[in-house]
Amino acid sequence: MRIVSGTARGIRLAAVPEGVRPTSDRVREAIFNALGQFFDGGEALDLYAGTGALGIEALSRGCDRAVFVEKSGSAVRAIRENLGRARLAERAEVVRGEVLPALDRLVGEGRRFRLILADPPYKMAGEEVGGLLVRLPDLLAPGGRAVVESGGLLGELPEGLAGSARSYGGTVVTFLERTEGDAKAMRVAICPGSFDPVTSGHLDVITRASVLFDHVVVAVGKNAKKGPKLSAEDRARLVEKVAKPLPNVSVEVMEGLLVEFAREQGAEAVVKGLRAGSDFESEFQQAQLNKMLSPSIETVFIMAAPEHSFLSSSAVREIASFGGSVRGLVPDEILETVQAVYSGG
Ligand code: PNS
Repeated sequence: MRIVSGTARGIRLAAVPEGVRPTSDRVREAIFNALGQFFDGGEALDLYAGTGALGIEALSRGCDRAVFVEKSGSAVRAIRENLGRARLAERAEVVRGEVLPALDRLVGEGRRFRLILADPPYKMAGEEVGGLLVRLPDLLAPGGRAVVESGGLLGELPEGLAGSARSYGGTVVTFLERTEGDAKAMRVAICPGSFDPVTSGHLDVITRASVLFDHVVVAVGKNAKKGPKLSAEDRARLVEKVAKPLPNVSVEVMEGLLVEFAREQGAEAVVKGLRAGSDFESEFQQAQLNKMLSPSIETVFIMAAPEHSFLSSSAVREIASFGGSVRGLVPDEILETVQAVYSGG
């Protein structure tokens, strides 16, 4: 196991103590991608901390401080060892003990956290998880987020909390935030596409969608029909690069039906860009089919900006393949890569 990103990126973590089931690197990366990848200060709280990997990842990605709560002595030793390896011990507080009493103490001290990460053992009694959930609204700072991992859906949330669940293999990850008054759950939208490659026009639509929705998941289609040069994972990495400044945008590879993916992500809308009339027919057909497959998911169209109305991934591929410059057609951060990947052959 390694720290995935940030100042401690690549640091290898100590051997996992017996009885600890750590979050895999892949799920940890997906969680942080969904959270917006990087933080600007604030305090994190890592509960049932195990190896401390989640809290250390939060510190590595910009949280100022982190509190780790763990009852097993060998796990506490692993957390301290890992903090040492990542040179983050000075920004951490490790509390050895049961989680719920520790939370009551933190609430009593008036502590509030920007990010709370909880990976309770899946076999833990429902009462413990329920006890955790009811305490979260008092522990979250305004605008703060909590992430709870579980083996299945959490069921009804206590008053004061709203959230959406996503599933990563056998792990369900629920993203939670405090509701103020009768505020509604987070509104999540999917921006799907082949992104072969992502263009300035795509980025414009993603950016505008990120203003309309609380969270946007860019879904990079794995089953693209046109035999793309880059794997879906590589295309997704390019989207991640250009969407980095957008804190409420995450990127995922999508396999299978779009409406299924949207449901898994807790999304209520699919956002697509529309250029000239020529886009309309196929988009209309896809939207109608998706509506038939899943009536609760709406398709929303964002009209392309005039300067992008002529722009398409296929035009970028063609220009690059003949050695022409695609500067301005794709975001500068990926210009060199696109130019190299799509040139020739
Ligand atoms: O950029 P593209 O090529 O227009 O993107 C196409 C994509 C990935 C959005 C589309 O192929 C898609 O939704 N694929 C998922 C499969 C699916 O749900 N098909 C039924 C919708 S008609």
